[in-house]
Amino acid sequence: SDDFLGADDLLWGVSTSAFQIEGSFTAAGRRPSTWDGFPAFEGDDASVACDHYRRYREDVGLMRSLGVGAYRFSVSWPRVLAGDLAFYDRLVDELLAAGIAPVATLYHWDTPLAVEQAGGWLDRDTAHRFAEYAERVAARLADRVAMWIPINEPAMVTLLGYATGQHAPGKALLFDALPTAHHLNLAHGLAVQALRSAGARAVGTANNHTPTWPASPADAPAAEAYADLHNWLYADAQLAGRYPDSLADRLPIVDGDLAITSAPLDFYGVNYYNPTRLRLPSEGNPLPFELVDVDEYPKTGFGWPVVPSGLSEMVSLLRDRFADLPPVYVTESGCSYPHSLQDTERIAYLDAHIAEALKAGVRGYFVWSLMDNFEWDSGYSQRFGLVHVDYATQERTPRASYEWYRDRIRR
Ligand code: BGC
Repeated sequence: SDDFLGADDLLWGVSTSAFQIEGSFTAAGRRPSTWDGFPAFEGDDASVACDHYRRYREDVGLMRSLGVGAYRFSVSWPRVLAGDLAFYDRLVDELLAAGIAPVATLYHWDTPLAVEQAGGWLDRDTAHRFAEYAERVAARLADRVAMWIPINEPAMVTLLGYATGQHAPGKALLFDALPTAHHLNLAHGLAVQALRSAGARAVGTANNHTPTWPASPADAPAAEAYADLHNWLYADAQLAGRYPDSLADRLPIVDGDLAITSAPLDFYGVNYYNPTRLRLPSEGNPLPFELVDVDEYPKTGFGWPVVPSGLSEMVSLLRDRFADLPPVYVTESGCSYPHSLQDTERIAYLDAHIAEALKAGVRGYFVWSLMDNFEWDSGYSQRFGLVHVDYATQERTPRASYEWYRDRIRR
């Protein structure tokens, strides 16, 4: 509906992303992306994934039965480059017919290979290419999409894609990756402008956030250094038009950029998975911190600590730092556990995180993810879904957590 942003009730949703579920790499002339051939876990690739490009009707049906008010998906830049907007047209109409508000992310990591070959996020011009793409999508969908998110988790693109090389495009540049952060923020701001001029209803962002915990009081500088890199490099630029002092000198800022990156937003999306513990680096480490295991909590199948209180802690940190923080939505929260349909751990995880989200006064909660999907550098080995996917048959089977979430939404 048009006025859901003003409603007092929590907006309940589920999230996915194009590359992780769609498959159909060559449909309607789709261009290759940096991820298509990126070496993945056990040779897994996403050329079929959940076959969602062809099975989207069934998947919207699953969401309708689940009773969610919103669905967060991403638009594939490589498809739009080839002129294929028809798929998202159909998807959005199908969602609206099911009474589900479409929440569209424009970039969830699937950079067109040609854009990467021209320099990718290291090149300022990519921000302008992105704005052109945003304009094109907005012109087609702004009349029907309820909420827009230009870029999903720029922090992970810089850290994993360009600093460590764990993600595509696989560059291990360490601190030389930092220009990508500014170009991503700039792309975000230019896309906000493009969306607004096309009449977009609500425009926000989705940043990955982690509370940073020093291993001991003496390690506080390490925790701060990591918080600057992971949290504030993006939140500061997008919400306050500034950069953390520790990093500002290494960013290719042009006069006027910070006014663009900080265009006002209608909502602020937090993707939360876990806190991060840091200590000062040992000798010879070029980084100002070292990661330390958070080992006093239970772990997900991925080995990530389950710390529900970290969610409300993170929202408080944001509220303290930004006096005029827009309404907060948890745009991703979820966990991977092996196979079982009786996923009682996932139910406990969601129950506890939803309680913290409510405590923190957020306006919406989106589970990552609707269904099992292609988990980047871990391929199909990690299962985040409320719905189990049998990749041999593409059969979808709702897990116990799906039934639980449906009941939670009804309450
Ligand atoms: C990303 C998702 C990913 C999830 C689990 C998030 O940071 O946005 O694409 O699947 O984490 O790793």
